[in-house]
Amino acid sequence: MAESTHSVIHLPTVADTEAFGRRLAVELSAGDLVVLDGPLGAGKTALARGIAAGLGVRGRVSSPTFIIAREHRAGERPGGGEPVAMVHVDAYRLGLGGQRSATFDELDALDLDTDLAGAVVVVEWGEGIVEHLADRHLLVRLRREPDSDVRTAQWGWVA
Ligand SMILES: Nc1ncnc2c1ncn2[C@@H]1O[C@H](COP(=O)(O)OP(=O)(O)OP(=O)(O)O)[C@@H](O)[C@H]1O
Ligand SMILES: [Mg+2]
Repeated sequence: MAESTHSVIHLPTVADTEAFGRRLAVELSAGDLVVLDGPLGAGKTALARGIAAGLGVRGRVSSPTFIIAREHRAGERPGGGEPVAMVHVDAYRLGLGGQRSATFDELDALDLDTDLAGAVVVVEWGEGIVEHLADRHLLVRLRREPDSDVRTAQWGWVA
């Protein structure tokens, strides 16, 4: 799996993380897969909220802890462009038991109403589980600086 050179950005506040998500959304369209990596509280959901704002999808983005996946209907894209739905997945509880790579059937089994090919799919904790859903994916790695609110993000398309 080829991982392209990743850009790095510093995100001092949660507002910066959301703004970064809005920027990323500009280059996203139907069928795109975004994998968010990072430890607990790194800002994955905050970033997903920014992506949702940038896509202009409907509904509030929150942590989908109890439902695994939340579907957001397409709305008006702030920058113009083709409206697109977003599916926000928290894969944390998919594949518990150490067999994460063997569990993508669980995602297929969620039986989403949204056609994944017609949506932007954003997955927290999805590394090693969901890459097969698309030919390439946008990987975003969020890291926390010790004793500070600052996050750093590295991102790039992985084919
Ligand atoms: N620079 C920052 N970027 C993102 N979040 C920040 C930042 N500084 C502080 N925070 C806070 O950190 C928390 C990030 O929570 P968030 O739910 O987005 O993380 P997460 O990676 O989705 O966690 P989980 O692994 O539990 O799903 C929020 O409470 C947010 O306000
Ligand atoms: Mg989260």
